[in-house]
Amino acid sequence: MESVLNTIKKFTRDVIAKAEAERQDSVVNEKSKIHLIDILFDNKLSGETLNDQINTFILAGHDTVAQAMGFTLYELSRRSAVQQKLLEEIQSIAGKDPNADITYKDLQEMKYLEAVVKESMRLHVIVPVIERKISHDIQHNGIRYPKDTTFMFNIDGIHKSEKYFANPKEYNPNRFMPENAHLILKNTFVPFSVGPRDCIGKLYAMLEIKFFVAKCIQKFELLPVENHNLKMLGEIVNKSITGTPVIFKERPA
Ligand code: HEM
Repeated sequence: MESVLNTIKKFTRDVIAKAEAERQDSVVNEKSKIHLIDILFDNKLSGETLNDQINTFILAGHDTVAQAMGFTLYELSRRSAVQQKLLEEIQSIAGKDPNADITYKDLQEMKYLEAVVKESMRLHVIVPVIERKISHDIQHNGIRYPKDTTFMFNIDGIHKSEKYFANPKEYNPNRFMPENAHLILKNTFVPFSVGPRDCIGKLYAMLEIKFFVAKCIQKFELLPVENHNLKMLGEIVNKSITGTPVIFKERPA
């Protein structure tokens, strides 16, 4: 455990040292003005406080995004019709060249891509449970809960409830298409939690995942690994201990 912690701390120290060096370099600095780390430096954070802030971002934003990417590709490898529809959307917006750039604006227009990522995150919730400690006594369904009681919210259960999603076990990105938006009740699709302490990186995470998935589909056909079963390990971040393997077949140029 100690050695794992040391590896994480060293990684963070290296990230900070690199950013500090880049700040001294006027050319790189010009390009990277809005780096998060610059904002922290500009707010005079240093030492352990700076390390802790960077650690939070690295830990909260790394495994979560990697798992969401993995589950999305895994689902696509098993659904050729969904994959084909997604490829058509990507090609209609970015062009047919498998190496064409995909811009931020392109990503905003790719509605089916967004629906595919959301449906993958609904079925494979990344953070399955969150907790909240109540700041005052509350009364609910005839029961009084005293101040400081901790509530656990089962996000996985909400995402798979028949009360909120028709055929919840079915993988169906169309439920997240704009024309069906009215069918999704408020606070029932909550992979990033909700409220004042929800995920600070949610927009960035969606951008990363969408970009990565679009680039993969643009360049490769994803094929399933036969006889593979996901075996879920419910930790803070949900993952499959058998992985999410996919076969990549390069598309002809
Ligand atoms: C698929 C990707 C991600 C998922 C599913 C996810 C999920 C979540 C959830 C559910 C929470 C709230 C926990 C709670 O309510 O107790 C949270 C908080 C947080 N997330 Fe994410 N996250 C993702 C990506 C990211 C990224 C990319 C970053 C940063 C670059 C990030 C930074 C944070 C931070 C700093 C918090 C704590 C916010 C606070 O306590 O006020 N997350 N995330």
